[in-house]
Amino acid sequence: MSAEAPQPRYAILHSPACTAIWELPEGEAPLWRYWGPRLPDGVTPGAALRSTRPEPSFSLHFDQPLSLFPGLGLGWFGQSALLAHRAGQDWAQAITGCRVEQPAPDTLRFLMADAVADIAITLSARLDPSSDVLTLSTTLTNTGDKILDIQWLAAGSVPLPEDALAVHSFAGRHNAEFVPVKDPLTRSLWRRENRRGLTSHDCFPGALVTCADGTAYGAQLAWSGNHAQQIEWVEDGRHHWQMGEWLAPGEVRLAPGESLITPEMLATCSAQGANGVAQAFHRAIRANIRWPGGTMKPRPVHLNTWEGFYFDHDEAALKDLATAAAAIGIERFVLDDGWFAGRHDDTSSLGDWWPDMGKYPKGLAPLAEHVVGLGMEFGLWVEPEMINPASDLYRAHPDWALHIAGRPLLSARNQLVLDLTRPEVADYLYGKIAPLLESLPIAYLKWDHNRDLTHAGQTPLYRRQVLAAYALMDRLTATFPHVEIEACAGGGGRIDAGIAAHSHRFWASDCIDAIERVRIQRGFLQFMPPEVMGSHVGACPAHSTGRMQAMDFRCGVALPGHFGVELDVRLLGEAERAELAAAIARYKALRTRLHHGLLWQGEATDGVVWQAHGSATSLLLLITRTRPTTQRHQPRLRLPMLHPDRRYRIHTEAADVWEVDGAWAIRSGLPLPPMRGEEVQVWQIEAI
Ligand code: GLA
Repeated sequence: MSAEAPQPRYAILHSPACTAIWELPEGEAPLWRYWGPRLPDGVTPGAALRSTRPEPSFSLHFDQPLSLFPGLGLGWFGQSALLAHRAGQDWAQAITGCRVEQPAPDTLRFLMADAVADIAITLSARLDPSSDVLTLSTTLTNTGDKILDIQWLAAGSVPLPEDALAVHSFAGRHNAEFVPVKDPLTRSLWRRENRRGLTSHDCFPGALVTCADGTAYGAQLAWSGNHAQQIEWVEDGRHHWQMGEWLAPGEVRLAPGESLITPEMLATCSAQGANGVAQAFHRAIRANIRWPGGTMKPRPVHLNTWEGFYFDHDEAALKDLATAAAAIGIERFVLDDGWFAGRHDDTSSLGDWWPDMGKYPKGLAPLAEHVVGLGMEFGLWVEPEMINPASDLYRAHPDWALHIAGRPLLSARNQLVLDLTRPEVADYLYGKIAPLLESLPIAYLKWDHNRDLTHAGQTPLYRRQVLAAYALMDRLTATFPHVEIEACAGGGGRIDAGIAAHSHRFWASDCIDAIERVRIQRGFLQFMPPEVMGSHVGACPAHSTGRMQAMDFRCGVALPGHFGVELDVRLLGEAERAELAAAIARYKALRTRLHHGLLWQGEATDGVVWQAHGSATSLLLLITRTRPTTQRHQPRLRLPMLHPDRRYRIHTEAADVWEVDGAWAIRSGLPLPPMRGEEVQVWQIEAI
């Protein structure tokens, strides 16, 4: 490198825990120089990247390092940020110029263009100082004079360091969400994608990457439709993590002047590992939720009628249930599926959103008023995007169901999907749901979506269907701003940061078996904060698995989330009812601490997992034994978040009080008492 070599220009964003640095060479896309834990102010990479990379044998004379918008066909041989063409032309792309704007101290806007392929790209990067989350999104504009067909446009990408070892993603199915999948990062391309039309139970749109030095990286796509993510080895030993919406052939064809805006990619990293990543995501999701009234009120205890009653609605019995629920401290009564015209099982009536007059001769008002009169809120289940062929709606408008000419319809749970992109369909749904919200004291909608999309339009409309669903939710909450929405899709089929901005709670799974829930909730909490995690106490045996679990265990596992009850409380014996009431009282006493602080999760071996909520000086520790011990003596539980130089007082479940040095608890660990095969203990840990 000669002394006169011009210093490169850099674009730099810092947050308290993270730093992103791009090098800005003339006439091309910014080069990714750093994404990782916070570097001190003023630190730059120094020399231009290319000046540090002698030309390898048999290589192009023009070195192309990893950029913010890798191209195709012109010297970058890896995955590109864009796959597009104009009837076979303009398929090769490379950025020819980039201008950087800084509209806010935490935000950079990279205004790029390919003057040959006639495209303009605006890539926005915001590194939020209050969350440590880097939000990337990309807008592509067709500046040419012919249609541009787009097959792939990455929302964003981040580099991963050379010591990135493994990627932890999530698979699953209905009743079994957040099944962890760990893949080593090698030179093979790692890719997960989802084509089910909504977020899916099978493939959460995000992942966690762990590195040899303990640093962890996380990313998730804020989108409730098809998605793809991939991690590719780069020739300098780094990896490159890209994510975006999966687009069907022909789905996006931009006319001259038209733009495609991607969903947002939320990325973060932490020297504190997976827990630091989770905490950053929690801060970002919390900041994006639009609570009625502007701030979150304490999460009210739910009673959901589904597993207690299913379709068997009897107004008098439901009133009794409400009375019994209020008596044990329940605060919100959610009337699930089965309330609307002709809905006696899952074969009919989706679309006919008015009360069944056989079950509710005077409509829902008497029940809703009874609930409100008991001091509880009233909530209602709907599944707006769906239609049963056996419904008045289908008989009147069979063409409103998604279909493709000449193709037989494919039903799932006896239902089809409405084409929400048709304004008359969205208007119909608004016109049916709004009067319910107007005429009844409804504070809450449980918004379901119980099947995958097929036949998604004569030309593919997956993307527009997602946007139309968001728009319908927003239209309803604009008119009824006091109403909260729960995002449910056969349990956890629509859990993502996109819909989090339009809703207030997720139903994490239709599986309420507490042992299964330990795993499901652990995965959920890696990306979402506990206050939006619907967690219910179900019946024994659990309906989804047939397994039996003690009431205190079911209550303990449900405790950290947005707590609810999903059983017929009238059928409980005195002792169990008292136990449930005590658990509800405990939840109410603890919910402020559970739903506002930092969260750490870990394992203590031998079937013990733990969660700690709060701060490094004041913690609620939830210790869960998931199976009987196989050891004569219990494992110790190490708490990495404590201050090594502080002393702590510990209040255990058994009301023992003892003290421990922070350094000892970090390195050696707390002694655990013997616990039953399935047991949750709640300890308090306070710095002295
Ligand atoms: C889905 C939901 C359940 C319940 C049923 C009603 O499965 O996840 O909680 O609302 O639909 O049909």
